[in-house]
Amino acid sequence: MGHKTPMERDDLNTLKAWFSVYCDSFSSSLEEDRKNYDVKRKHTDNVCSNMLLIAQDLELDDQRTMIAEAVALFHDIGRFPQYQQYKTFQDSISVNHAALGAKVLIENSALCSLPQEEQDLIVRAVTLHNVLTIPGELDPDLLQLVKMIRDADKLDIWRVFLEYYAQPKSDQATAVGLGLPDIPEYAPEILTRLHQRKLVLLSSLKTLTDFKLLQLAWIFDLNFPASFRIVALRQYIDRFALTLPKTDDIADAVDAVREYLNEKLKNG
Ligand SMILES: [Fe+2]
Repeated sequence: MGHKTPMERDDLNTLKAWFSVYCDSFSSSLEEDRKNYDVKRKHTDNVCSNMLLIAQDLELDDQRTMIAEAVALFHDIGRFPQYQQYKTFQDSISVNHAALGAKVLIENSALCSLPQEEQDLIVRAVTLHNVLTIPGELDPDLLQLVKMIRDADKLDIWRVFLEYYAQPKSDQATAVGLGLPDIPEYAPEILTRLHQRKLVLLSSLKTLTDFKLLQLAWIFDLNFPASFRIVALRQYIDRFALTLPKTDDIADAVDAVREYLNEKLKNG
C-alpha cells in the first residue's frame, strides 16, 4: 500500500464497527462473564463521550479529535482477552491490559487503513493510558493524547465504581471490585497521601475502602480544566464520600480533596 490519507469520519466509523464485532466475539454462556464484558463496553462508550468533551473544550481540530476518539475507543480493548483468559481485571495477577490492547490492535491490523503516524500515535497512547507516571520527553502530540485518555478514563471509572458500590451484591459485575473485602478498615497512610495530594499505589490495597480512597486520589492526576468541571458537575467527590466509613479522619481527607478541586476550578 502506498501513502494513506489522514483519518476521516468514515475511517472512524469503520473502526467503531470493527470494535463492536471484536467485542461480540467475547460471548459467554455465563451471566457473570457477560456482566463483566458489558461493564467494559459501556465504559468504552462513556470514555469516548468524555474524550469528545475534553477535545471540544481544548478546541482541537477534526483530525486531532478523531484520533483522540480512536484512542478512547481502543484504550481498554485488552480488557476483553484479559478477562477471557484470566477472569479478572486485576493486572497485577494477570497481564498489563494496556500492553495487551496494543498487541491486539497490531496483531489484528485494526488500524491498517490509517497512515503509519496515526497508527503509532493511537497504539502508543493506548499503551500509556494506565502507567502510574507518564514518561518524560514524549512528543507533544502523543503527550496530549495520553493526558486526554487518562482524564477521560478516570472520569468514567468513577461512575463505574459508584454504580458498583450502589448495587446489591447479586447484580455486581464481580471483576470490578478486584476481589477486595468490603470492610470499613483502611490503611491510615492512604489518608496521608490524600492530604499530600499524592496518588496511592495499587500495591498498598487491602480492602475495598482502601480502593475507594485510592480512586479519590486520582483527582490529583487529572490534567485539563474540562475534567475538573466534569468532576464537579457529576458530584463525584460527594458521592464517593457517601460510600466511605463515617470517621473524622476520612472526612478530613475528603475535605482536602474537595479543596484541591475548588482550587482547580478557580484557576482553570
Ligand atoms: Fe484501562
